[in-house]
Amino acid sequence: MQWVTSQTDVNYVVMKKKITVFAPATVANLGCGFDTMGLAINAPGDELRLEINKENKIRIRKITGDQGKLSYDPKRNTVGVAIQALLNALEINQGFDIYLSKKMPLGSGLGSSAASSIAGAFAANELLGSPFRRTDLVPFGMAGEKVASGAAHADNVAPCLLGGITLIRSYDPLEVISLAVPEKLMVVVVYPHVELLTKNARAVLPKTFSIKDGVAQWSNTAALVAGLYTDNYSLIGRAVTDRIAEPHRAGLIPSFHQVKASAIINGALACSISGSGPSVFALAQKKSDADKIAKAMQAEFSRGKIKSTSYISPVNLKGVKII
Ligand code: HSE
Repeated sequence: MQWVTSQTDVNYVVMKKKITVFAPATVANLGCGFDTMGLAINAPGDELRLEINKENKIRIRKITGDQGKLSYDPKRNTVGVAIQALLNALEINQGFDIYLSKKMPLGSGLGSSAASSIAGAFAANELLGSPFRRTDLVPFGMAGEKVASGAAHADNVAPCLLGGITLIRSYDPLEVISLAVPEKLMVVVVYPHVELLTKNARAVLPKTFSIKDGVAQWSNTAALVAGLYTDNYSLIGRAVTDRIAEPHRAGLIPSFHQVKASAIINGALACSISGSGPSVFALAQKKSDADKIAKAMQAEFSRGKIKSTSYISPVNLKGVKII
């Protein structure tokens, strides 16, 4: 499936007064696909209750699960920014009350800011009678992502919105492609309890890279797509390799090399950094393999005296949803 976003001829009518949505965590980059590829998992995720208000103001009423870290200023909060971007595109004023329940760690590499942004854009669009198609909500999620990380990338936003595995073919114009999802693919994500902000993880990246690394990166990206479309799990494993970001970010994640080695030894198809880290993800072909890999990865973090949490999930095919 493929589309170029368009935002013309939008009409809206307030359909409902309130809604609660769930937006899933995501794994961006998938090794070779820096800033272009990502997938959604079933849990964790964010819950957002959004209510229409008559004051024409976006108000953040309550945030839980963020340890007091998120701003109640709608201009500095990803949910508020994403909703405002949607209202700007519609050229309307509409007030909303926001109740955000963060059910995933911040600064974890699980797409926390993208989940909140997409929850906001999706919920507002639903309450306004869906003036935009789901596929057209990507830029509003990106606006939220920008305020959180300083860069308006869509590799978490797109899979959070659409589910599955997505590729950003182009940012200008925005073109998102939903890729094939091999049925047995299992995702393990292990979150070490250290915070790594995306803007700090982006700051360590080099401004340039060699042709040799570029060639390796785009051949692996193409091979990953081929592997996904042919259910070729061993090709997927070989292709999830990162020469651009992982070498520079590995040092920001305690025990990364040991954790990766233990994932591979215990049967992972591949292992790399989830988004900008510090979470580390691995791919597997069976749930029993995924369980074993998660345990081994957590044991390595423990050996390095780092607490961790693991998540095991098939690829989430639905993306953000009403609950
Ligand atoms: N592609 C992004 C990065 C994902 O690696 O910086 C994190 O939001």
